[in-house]
Amino acid sequence: MTATPTGPATLWINGALVAADDARVSPFDHGLTVGNGVFETMKVVADDGGVPRAFALSRHLRRLRRSATALGLEVGCDDDQLRAAVEAVLDANAASAGRVRMTLTGGVGPLGSDRPGGPGTLLLATGPATPWSATTAVTVVPWRRNEHSAVAGAKTTSYAENVVALEHAHRLGSSEALFANTAGDLCEGTGSNVFVGIAGRLRTPPLTSGCLAGITRELLLEVLDVDEVDLSLDELRAADEVFLTSSTRDVHPVARVDDVELAPCPGPLTAAAQAAFAAIQARTLDP
Ligand SMILES: Cc1ncc(COP(=O)(O)O)c(C=O)c1O
Repeated sequence: MTATPTGPATLWINGALVAADDARVSPFDHGLTVGNGVFETMKVVADDGGVPRAFALSRHLRRLRRSATALGLEVGCDDDQLRAAVEAVLDANAASAGRVRMTLTGGVGPLGSDRPGGPGTLLLATGPATPWSATTAVTVVPWRRNEHSAVAGAKTTSYAENVVALEHAHRLGSSEALFANTAGDLCEGTGSNVFVGIAGRLRTPPLTSGCLAGITRELLLEVLDVDEVDLSLDELRAADEVFLTSSTRDVHPVARVDDVELAPCPGPLTAAAQAAFAAIQARTLDP
């Protein structure tokens, strides 16, 4: 495969590459009108030959299908077709792609919540990587995740709640907002999972908390000794260490939770998690 850098703005929509300026999605697309869609965001890394690849693509495709099933959406492509689409959009944007996003919506539908009958819309786009600082701060927001929701655990395009929460966190100098769930237990961030270190042990909220089954979280759980347990917000605020995980942050050490400073940062459990994740990525791009 040859990389043909045609600028950062080539998309893949329903089977074809198209310049962003020429791209067209219907104003009646159910993803736009009611947020009836699912998506994946993957980190882009260069393989040994310098070709950009989507990290952990197989796991992302599996989660896309799980999310689609939760919403009753047809993916309409097999995995080979999805892989070819990822390759094509990365190839077209090779010079600039730091992340690749795959979005599947219900397609053209009514101006309400009745399900569209026709084919969905499948759209791939690339963007730059987020330049994160070495450590970060988080804010616990007053709004709750609903672990009993019909779409709990699905990665849906209905992220308006995350937009509001993230803006609130940004106003308080944090890069991420953390939610509790309706039981008051720690759940997740707007685009990340959360781990805490308490008395030498790592803990993270279980999937029953309503958090997304993050790919980064999942990879760490496979190689580290972590307790998946419900955690109160008091435990979060009293933790020795906290870190976030996501496809764009990897393992991101947290130096402040609300007004509580955490030092040293990264602490030993966080540093070990960073090393473990780096080792996974050094071993394979599709763990
Ligand atoms: C709500 C939410 N939780 C957690 C994550 C982290 O998941 P992953 O590690 O697969 O990126 C994301 C990723 O975007 C997310 O949107």
